[in-house]
Amino acid sequence: MSAAQIDTATFSTSSAKMEEFPVYEATIGRPAIGISSLFSQGYTTFDPGYFSTAVCESSITSIQGDIGELLYRGYPIDELAERYTFPAISQLLLTGTLSVDAGALEYANDLDARSAVPQPLTKLIAAMPQDAHPMAMLMSAVAALEGFYPELCDVHDPDSRLQAAKLLIALIPKLAILCAQRSRGEQVAPSMTSSTSYSGSFLQGLRQSDEIVNPTFEHAIDKILTVHADHELNASTATVRAVGSTGANLFASIAAGIAALWGPLHGGANEACLKMLRLMGSEEHVDQYVRRAKDPDDHFKLMGFGHRVYKNYDPRAKIMRTVCQDVLSELGRDDEPLLKLATKLEKIALEDPYFVERKLYPNVDFYSGITQNALGIEDHFFTVVFAVARTTGWASHWLEMHETAQTRICRPRQIYVGETRRNTPDPASTTRS
Ligand code: CMC
Repeated sequence: MSAAQIDTATFSTSSAKMEEFPVYEATIGRPAIGISSLFSQGYTTFDPGYFSTAVCESSITSIQGDIGELLYRGYPIDELAERYTFPAISQLLLTGTLSVDAGALEYANDLDARSAVPQPLTKLIAAMPQDAHPMAMLMSAVAALEGFYPELCDVHDPDSRLQAAKLLIALIPKLAILCAQRSRGEQVAPSMTSSTSYSGSFLQGLRQSDEIVNPTFEHAIDKILTVHADHELNASTATVRAVGSTGANLFASIAAGIAALWGPLHGGANEACLKMLRLMGSEEHVDQYVRRAKDPDDHFKLMGFGHRVYKNYDPRAKIMRTVCQDVLSELGRDDEPLLKLATKLEKIALEDPYFVERKLYPNVDFYSGITQNALGIEDHFFTVVFAVARTTGWASHWLEMHETAQTRICRPRQIYVGETRRNTPDPASTTRS
């Protein structure tokens, strides 16, 4: 452990008093009670959804949910988003270094030099059904990289691990563009873009347009990538770490992360949120849907609202709201009905005691769908954009996991509540009717 022990904790039940447990200090956030020896003292812990469970030490990202603060390597997300572009953020998360000028350019050029998609991989994507969700296509393409780069799958070699991470960060936007081509029924082939930046060429490729990307739109996609780049131990990052803990290579681990991200309670919320806004249709229907969201017997929830960690406004949502307004203004669509609807919904929900008492605020997905839609990205591609951004975070966590001595295979316990041991019926002795 690198976290300092600052205290001890004791537990007891009515029949047992246990040995003391160490309490570790976090530089930000609650101290953690080290309970690994609990099992040898006769107990397990029960914590569905890991509500109170820390599974690793990490120095990449921290969230202070009570005040709505997000730091990448200690730097506030709003300052980073204002002053840096995505490749610099990616380098910061991956390596811990925030480079300006030459250093950032070198990292961006390094990514660019690695971004040629192996030709047979285009055939694999072309062979997918056109109606397959692009997240399924992307997941398959990423998992398949193992076959093309076996030399980058030696998880015991630090250089091989780092090269694998950089390669995937370089390739992922290109793979996403190939998936977009397949979804549209176009020829699947690497496209040359006139934009030279990571974010600009990604947007241009996604939109399959020859036009140079408008600077406001390039800025918007760059901020979308920035705010989605990492978010500490969310469901998909925990998945990447869990799969990685088995010794699986980076490509397999991140393919699993893409699967976890796809769900509507996680990264799929951006697509689900826009669908919800369209379902509401107009401002006069908002109350009716807010009523449904509050009804415990109705599975309907306000998509893009609420978060396990944030009990205050998600700082990423604030950035996304501004970016969204900028894009719509640039398009001359200041009166965009979807934005008006979202603003009304946000206002009502933030004043409603149900949401106030539960501290439910808009999260990053609330405005990102409207923004991506305005940028000309198809709905079922929103989560793919999220995956492209989060690849940096997943890779950073996967690398950190391998560099941490205490990493062990993720293997939770359970409370077994099934049948106790019983005799198996002999099939030969059962009579047939
Ligand atoms: N609409 C209505 N009620 C909600 C919502 C919502 N969006 N979110 C939480 N609640 C209620 C929930 O029903 C519960 O009520 P009660 O106390 O009466 O049982 C209470 O608020 C506490 O919520 P929770 O379910 O314990 O929260 P959680 O930490 O388990 O779930 C969440 C977090 C994000 C899955 C959930 O808020 C949700 O489903 N939100 C909608 C989907 C969404 O926007 N997901 C994107 C998250 S941000 C992007 C990312 O990083 O993934």
